[in-house]
Amino acid sequence: MINFWTKLTRPFIVLAPMENVTDYVFREIVSRYLPRPDVFFTEFTNTDGLTSEKGYPETIKRLQFSKSQRPIVAQIWGSNPQNFFRSAQICLNLGFDGVDINMGCPHRSVVESGGGAGCIGNFDLVKEIINATKEGLKNKIPLSIKTRLGNKIISYQDWVQFLLEQKIDALTVHCRTPSQMSDGQANWDAIGEITKIKNKISPNTLVIGNGDVLSKKEAVLKHKQYGVDGVMIARGILKNPWIFGNNNIDHKVNDFLDLALKHTNLHHHIYGDSKHFATLKRFFKMYIKGFDGATTLRAELMDTEHITEVVRILEREKIKKSS
Ligand SMILES: Cc1cc2nc3c(=O)[nH]c(=O)nc-3n(C[C@H](O)[C@H](O)[C@H](O)COP(=O)(O)O)c2cc1C
Repeated sequence: MINFWTKLTRPFIVLAPMENVTDYVFREIVSRYLPRPDVFFTEFTNTDGLTSEKGYPETIKRLQFSKSQRPIVAQIWGSNPQNFFRSAQICLNLGFDGVDINMGCPHRSVVESGGGAGCIGNFDLVKEIINATKEGLKNKIPLSIKTRLGNKIISYQDWVQFLLEQKIDALTVHCRTPSQMSDGQANWDAIGEITKIKNKISPNTLVIGNGDVLSKKEAVLKHKQYGVDGVMIARGILKNPWIFGNNNIDHKVNDFLDLALKHTNLHHHIYGDSKHFATLKRFFKMYIKGFDGATTLRAELMDTEHITEVVRILEREKIKKSS
């Protein structure tokens, strides 16, 4: 199938799905004001919530996107094939460029419900989930899977071979096991082996490597060294918002404050007064750092009770820093 994945120049770079980070607002900030990744993903969205009368009104908000965030992939998770079928239909109707199934989230509540990394090794159910999702997508948009290296029982070779036999369009591998969470070094040698397995079993499936990549230059090296088609970056953008650019320019304090202000204003515009205020506060660590007085300023911002106070403080700081 010709689709947006197949049209990307290699190596392409993807902004990873991150719960409470890559929401509509942050993706919009990246797409409008920062060097862009080649592909955006939504945060993971629960298929049970999306397809239940009670859960739908809140869950559907997670799938809001704008034109400037294209190409954008909706990431979904769950364990009920029927709900994957209906969720795939919803994502198709919303106009997403692709759908991705999360088969790697290691959090206990997700795994215990049979979703995320709970899927690893559950071959019969996963086959049903993939088929139901494909049916819902009617071959109109591509299907990808994001997973981790195998769990204690299933080797990653067996797991990945099984996924590749399902002829999915792209496979992202975060090269850690679920029990590693985000700890320890990512095992890129495993990714090298996985690209060889895919060349034998499903050469048309794209392989995207993920784990500990901190620059565009490093992504290009991973492509050369391990044969991946693309690289996915998650926490790197929290360290350096300009990570998808070519140059390592030293950005000024006011560049960060300006981004923080734009983010806060858009957050206010999209979510209103109090909703998700805690989510916004998580970004202060990313924007307010590396200068004299950053810790005090961050503490002041964390203590705010209203979003308009955040705007006032950031504007005050911008004036101070430019004088
Ligand atoms: C705050 C946070 C939230 C995350 N949420 C998701 C998610 O919703 N879906 C997903 O597939 N992975 C999620 N991840 C995992 C990342 O996408 C990525 O696989 C992992 O952080 C390794 O990449 P990195 O070394 O570039 O950070 C999350 C990671 C972080 C740090």
